[in-house]
Amino acid sequence: MCGIVGYIGESQAAPILLDGLSKLEYRGYDSAGIAVYDGDKINMSKAKGRLKVLSELTHDGATLPGSIGIGHTRWATHGAPSDVNSHPHFNESQSIAVVHNGIIENYLKIKKMLESKGYKFVSDTDTEVVAHLLDYYYKGNPLEAITKVMHRVEGSYALGILFSDNPDTLYAVRKDSPLIVGKSENGNLIASDVPAVLKYTRNVYFIENEEIAVITKEDMKFYNVYEEELQKESVKIEWDVEAAEKGGYEHFMLKEMYEQPKAVADTLNPRLKDGKIVIEELNMTEEEIKAIKKIMIVACGSAYHTGVTAKYILEGLARIPVEVDVASEFRYRNPILEEGTLVIIISQSGETADSLAALRMAKEMGSKVLAIVNVVGSSIAREADSVLYTWAGPEIAVATTKAYSAQLIAHYLLALKFAEVRGTVSEEELSELIEDLKRIPEQIEMLLGNREKIQKFANRYVAARDVFFIGRGIDYAISLEGSLKLKEISYIHSEAYAAGELKHGTISLIEDGTLVVALVTQEELYKKTISNVVEVKTRGAFVLSVTNTGNTEIEKNSDYTIYIPHTNKYFTNSLAVIPLQLFSYYISIGRGCDVDKPRNLAKSVTVE
Ligand code: AGP
Repeated sequence: MCGIVGYIGESQAAPILLDGLSKLEYRGYDSAGIAVYDGDKINMSKAKGRLKVLSELTHDGATLPGSIGIGHTRWATHGAPSDVNSHPHFNESQSIAVVHNGIIENYLKIKKMLESKGYKFVSDTDTEVVAHLLDYYYKGNPLEAITKVMHRVEGSYALGILFSDNPDTLYAVRKDSPLIVGKSENGNLIASDVPAVLKYTRNVYFIENEEIAVITKEDMKFYNVYEEELQKESVKIEWDVEAAEKGGYEHFMLKEMYEQPKAVADTLNPRLKDGKIVIEELNMTEEEIKAIKKIMIVACGSAYHTGVTAKYILEGLARIPVEVDVASEFRYRNPILEEGTLVIIISQSGETADSLAALRMAKEMGSKVLAIVNVVGSSIAREADSVLYTWAGPEIAVATTKAYSAQLIAHYLLALKFAEVRGTVSEEELSELIEDLKRIPEQIEMLLGNREKIQKFANRYVAARDVFFIGRGIDYAISLEGSLKLKEISYIHSEAYAAGELKHGTISLIEDGTLVVALVTQEELYKKTISNVVEVKTRGAFVLSVTNTGNTEIEKNSDYTIYIPHTNKYFTNSLAVIPLQLFSYYISIGRGCDVDKPRNLAKSVTVE
């Protein structure tokens, strides 16, 4: 998620832009830049690295005089972190400057069209396409050019735009990525997020989807994509800065749980084209996909848990043998990687030491390495042969939620692509699976709506000592993640167990009132798992079951049942994990733990 700021007023813009960007640093970024109109032309300064680099470059803004400007902190999605990929981006004559937060899904198609008309690109970003497309449509009327661009581009965008031949006006546009307008005594501002403007005003307008803000020093007007003027009410922000950074949520973890529908949609949609799975960044021909003899998945923690899920899906749908291992074991067990083995490294941060070591080892042994990573330009991303990025945006809370959900989507896409190429699913099955995939964001949204119900249940288990998560098949993989979430943020001991394995010892730990969370989403295993539920129930366990809507049979053997909406059996992890995340979150709060920064943990484990 990038940070956008803009200012127009009586003061010098650059210092205000730098200050606003500093209030957005918590969102994570890899480069920054500002552009200011000096009365004659738009001057720009931008650089890879922290804001400090930009402040030094511009002598805290002094080298960019002028009272209208835009600024940006970049969280790379397309194009590695670099000076040239930083925002703002110009058109060729440097008469139009743009900053952007979001993903232009059809940027390659538009880039090809513009290049065929003689446009020259200097960066690898999707954003630069917007600058040149504005130029392409601009005939002196900014609003007209902007609305034409909006009709042409697909994807998510929050834009700040300057036109050098229209220097008394700042333009802001929104589709899916957040953008606000702040009205202050000392001029008007735009920003991706409230913290950037709080120093100047608490009086903001929230720009809605497909709206354009046309802002001068004295005034602001709003239009829709048909250039019809809109009347909007301002809102008074009561949050303090800290609350504002969390978007009004109490913790980053809760905010990021609620960002899961968008993280899933942003990872999925750019890879669905005309009802087909298109993964351009895979860099594998159909022959290479057909030649895969085995897949070795290596990761740590929650990333490893998505790998366990991926095993069931890749074997089930693409009929490719899959082995999954934790990186800290893989790297020291002298593994065998035969000819034809594809190694997949999964990592949110892209910097986990064990996973990076496993990647290097696999490459030394001659295997092709595909990375599934959330941070563009991270070490694992740079060193892999190809990268399938999750576009969850920066994840601040140590306990992963939205990146985990985005990783699952990456696995589904891979499995469906491999299955299609290897002919292990029919056209009809494939389109049904894709339809189920497309419903996941709204289904997650719906499950997040159960928040209060789950909070009530969780409050009863704040003092729990031992909690068991059980399941079979993909339900076992979900149990792994449910158990880790509880442990890492509430410090309650918990174990995930293959449900059929309990009777081989661990069931001796079940006693009166022990909480057992049963994952029961795999229809062909219902009866087997229910028999395991009965085993623990008869030994006094309190059973919380998570199952598919309609499987009311399970209520007979459960003390509490949470239902998830229908989806394909391979995708249930994406839905069942939501109540488990919420359950752990509310227990952690109930125990007064530091939800976002749990004891002993780091967001990225860059040491062995
Ligand atoms: C997840 O909630 C944990 N914070 C942790 O297990 C994490 O998944 C693990 O350290 C791997 O991190 P990575 O995805 O950045 O490689």
